[in-house]
Amino acid sequence: MNDERAEFATLIEEDRARHELHTWQGSFLEYLERVRQDPQIPQLAHARLYGAIVKQGIGDIGNNDDHRVKRLFIDEKVSVYGFFSNEFFGIERTLSQLVRYFHSASLHGEESRQVLYLMGPVGAGKSSLIARLQRGLEETEPVYAIAGCPMAEEPLHLIPLHLRSEFEKMLEVHIEGELCPICRHRLKNEYNGRYEDVPVIRVPFSRHERRGIGVVPPVDPNNQDTSVLIGSVDISKLDTFSETDPRALDLNGAFNVGNRGMTEFIEVFKNEPEYLHTMITATQEKFIPAPGRHGTVYVDTAIVAHSNEAEWNRFKGDPTNEAFLDRIVVLKVPYNLRLTEEIKIYHKLLDKSEFREPIAPHTLEIAAMFAILTRLEPSSKADPMTKLHLYNGDEVVEKGTTSKINIRELEEESRRDGMFGISPRFIMKAIDNTLAEHPLGINPINVRESLINMVKAGDFPDDTRKRYLEFLQDSLHKAYLEILEKEITKAFVYSFEEQAEALYQNYLDHTEAYVNKTRVKDRNTGEELQPDESFLKSVEEQIAVVGSSAQGFRQEVMAYLWGKIRRGEKVNYRSYEPLKEAIEKKLMSSVREMSRIITKARTRDEEQMSKYRDLVGALLERGYDDHSAEVVLKYAANNLWKD
Ligand SMILES: Nc1ncnc2c1ncn2[C@@H]1O[C@H](COP(=O)(O)OP(=O)(O)OP(=O)(O)O)[C@@H](O)[C@H]1O
Ligand SMILES: [Mg+2]
Repeated sequence: MNDERAEFATLIEEDRARHELHTWQGSFLEYLERVRQDPQIPQLAHARLYGAIVKQGIGDIGNNDDHRVKRLFIDEKVSVYGFFSNEFFGIERTLSQLVRYFHSASLHGEESRQVLYLMGPVGAGKSSLIARLQRGLEETEPVYAIAGCPMAEEPLHLIPLHLRSEFEKMLEVHIEGELCPICRHRLKNEYNGRYEDVPVIRVPFSRHERRGIGVVPPVDPNNQDTSVLIGSVDISKLDTFSETDPRALDLNGAFNVGNRGMTEFIEVFKNEPEYLHTMITATQEKFIPAPGRHGTVYVDTAIVAHSNEAEWNRFKGDPTNEAFLDRIVVLKVPYNLRLTEEIKIYHKLLDKSEFREPIAPHTLEIAAMFAILTRLEPSSKADPMTKLHLYNGDEVVEKGTTSKINIRELEEESRRDGMFGISPRFIMKAIDNTLAEHPLGINPINVRESLINMVKAGDFPDDTRKRYLEFLQDSLHKAYLEILEKEITKAFVYSFEEQAEALYQNYLDHTEAYVNKTRVKDRNTGEELQPDESFLKSVEEQIAVVGSSAQGFRQEVMAYLWGKIRRGEKVNYRSYEPLKEAIEKKLMSSVREMSRIITKARTRDEEQMSKYRDLVGALLERGYDDHSAEVVLKYAANNLWKD
């Protein structure tokens, strides 16, 4: 008990010490000394954000351990950032474009004078991305600011214009911006112009406390009051101060708040265009109007806006918005299209929820497959399921060989992939609904059922609903049965891996002899045998390699594996995807009859009973619980092995 209290106390003390390390107060003169020692101190907003991002490390997606990812990015260099890695999945290209924007902007390129606009379908992660950037700002060290300035402004603004180039040389920094009306007034009246005495403090960013992070929600079109953006004249202060006295100003608009950091426009195009003019001057000239008759105010803020595509198209279509369009960097935020990554998104969201009930294997996979299928345009090159697997970096076996469809060409053909379809939110809702009805846990069967109900009840155009139902009732039904049969086989066949490996070795021995027209030496007896063609055929027919194509297939297998061995790579039954599939299917067919009998039997004799128990046991080892094992076995009995 006392120990724990001591632990709390230490934690609090340490945090306070860290905090105090960053609280500092001094005169402007002392501040100048600090800047001389560290010219990074007065960096501008975009550079600060860029720094926060890259600080957490940059990697290359090609260095991924997953061979699927390697395959997908073989001809393209995409950087990955530690800053985003545990939270965002499958949108690496988008993220690297985002970072590129901040990089150029941090170098004072044209981007620093442009609005970053995130456009994408609902639930694609726009708000979450911006929230991550804002947390990034909150994690950076507090900025130095003129004490008491409502905009936490950069103290270097105190330096009069005629001395700036000299100071720039001495400090090796770039100085831009002018004092806000309030600081200007205080400098003159409180400090008699002695700017070296003006106190400087450190100010941490906080979205919650409106420091360095300003947020503009969509405003009621009938009430587009710009005070939300630029602050206002505080009427109550007009009793004390004249209207021209800056002390009557309340510089608490989103731009004022976002100075030094970021200003976010939520659903930006829901606002009237007039309302957005301030945005243009703020980006292009880095000035915004001051409320009342107080001229302009310098702002340094990364302006980030977002909305969905329909609103963007409406806005873009209006010719009067042309000036605005020229000042926007559009960043498309599409849905993720990679199966493995979609599953990670659901895990992330489930971890955040209170959800603790069992999830049977493949449940999230089936839900993710549905989501991704809805996000793909039809293609003449591949059916939707094949496209899904190709986008995931999977090797797809077609007519006994790996599909040679080029992913880049697929992408070129369907540029709108990922810009429409079902969002992760929809899937999470389906999972919640399933749980409400099945407190024992969720599995691919009840989640698919719940998705079907949601799609039926959902507000979709008729043809979309029809397509979605086809995916759920047809493609995914089939896909799940395939997964399930493989699963049951693996649970059934004691040491599946070893058996597959043995089958593979045997196949290679006989194929080699067949191709080279030699004999096979029996591994046990040493006897020399003719290659067993009927055995070879029994494997090949599993993937529809029959008749004259067998010859070519065998040569391909040998050439492929030989190539790998020459490059010093290890080979096993998984090395050549078509052969792997054939072997797994062969094993499946060898136990199909037994699986059928064991799972279907209404009454089981002693031996069948013990086999059934073993099967359930093996499923438990594979991540099922008692309930879900029973459910999927029943499902297999009713759907897999038709009498
Ligand atoms: N690629 C992704 N990686 C990780 N999480 C994601 C991804 N896409 C969406 N999400 C998650 O899905 C949820 C919905 O995303 P978010 O609210 O950010 O979307 P949005 O684009 O702002 O949607 P809206 O247009 O409806 O405002 C969030 O919890 C988000 O983290
Ligand atoms: Mg949002």
